[in-house]
Amino acid sequence: MGVEICVEGLTKSFGRQVIWQDVSLTLPAGEISVMLGPSGTGKSVFLKTLVGLLKPDRGSITIAGKDVTRLREHDLYEVRKLFGVLFQDGALFGSMDLYDNIAFPLREHTRKSESEIKRIVLEKMDMVGLIGAEEKLPGEISGGMRKRAGLARALVLDPEIILFDEPDSGLDPVRVAYLNQLIVDLNAQIDATFLIVTHDIASARQVPDNIGLLFRRELVMFGPREDLLTSEEPVVRQFLNGRMQGPIGMAEEKDAAQVKQELAELHAGNHRGPKGGKGSGGGKIPRLLPSPGIARSPRWEEIAENEEKMQRLRKLRVAVGPDGGVTGA
Ligand SMILES: Nc1ncnc2c1ncn2[C@@H]1O[C@H](COP(=O)(O)OP(=O)(O)OP(=O)(O)O)[C@@H](O)[C@H]1O
Ligand SMILES: [Mg+2]
Repeated sequence: MGVEICVEGLTKSFGRQVIWQDVSLTLPAGEISVMLGPSGTGKSVFLKTLVGLLKPDRGSITIAGKDVTRLREHDLYEVRKLFGVLFQDGALFGSMDLYDNIAFPLREHTRKSESEIKRIVLEKMDMVGLIGAEEKLPGEISGGMRKRAGLARALVLDPEIILFDEPDSGLDPVRVAYLNQLIVDLNAQIDATFLIVTHDIASARQVPDNIGLLFRRELVMFGPREDLLTSEEPVVRQFLNGRMQGPIGMAEEKDAAQVKQELAELHAGNHRGPKGGKGSGGGKIPRLLPSPGIARSPRWEEIAENEEKMQRLRKLRVAVGPDGGVTGA
């Protein structure tokens, strides 16, 4: 059913370099959350800290009543079984074929028979579209296939928490769309707690329940999708619209006067955001729903109901038109 992760006052540095400080957020059980942030802001470090691979300087991470930051190696090993992690680089063993890579956690953490392992591995490989590639080595396949193999491996232990580090990077747009649907379907079926790091704004807008944004060593915001999509916070707006104008620069830091001028120009001229954009935050982006036929948990029934209501309202608005005049439809 997924477990809640409660992060409080978390700070991480390497030597004198503070990566982020005083990060507090709760990943609600069974929900999908997305973490955004410019390159180098410590998103991967955050995921590794959650699984206990990196030790924070301060703060706590509470999972199922235990503070992960204070656990001994043995207890940490137990907590890690709750997790499925898709690392940014796939983190496959180069000398093992895909089948053995995906079977690895089952052989390591369970006493399942080889025939049971085979059933699970093939089921997960089928799920991510890798049937037929069992005997390939990681070095012989494309980056996108490696990602999907990493995803299959993250799923074999039926985790309560799944962390995805840029599952969509290096995939073509069609595959990203399939992957997003796969993530939503998975969540509807297994109801685990998901945290996804991504740079793909379209995915961030459609997939999660919650969105967070890391910038300049702080968690700028974390909250429900709709709140972030309609936020006026300059960093949030810039990031979710993929604009150059705003506080985020190529090398991360921009000087305050330049930011002020850019934002003023933006307000004066094009108030609509990106080309063809509808409104700045695009708060009415529909939520991606599980595929028809997928067994949905009660949480998803509720989301689907709300989405249908929203769609009806949207249609009504088109029919009546913003000025009250009937425009047809
Ligand atoms: N083990 C480590 N030792 C020292 N510094 C590290 C270590 N791991 C990460 N860093 C530093 O922490 C910072 C954040 O790195 P991280 O990989 O978390 O960024 P990111 O937000 O995931 O970026 P990207 O979007 O490019 O993947 C970087 O400056 C990186 O050099
Ligand atoms: Mg990263």
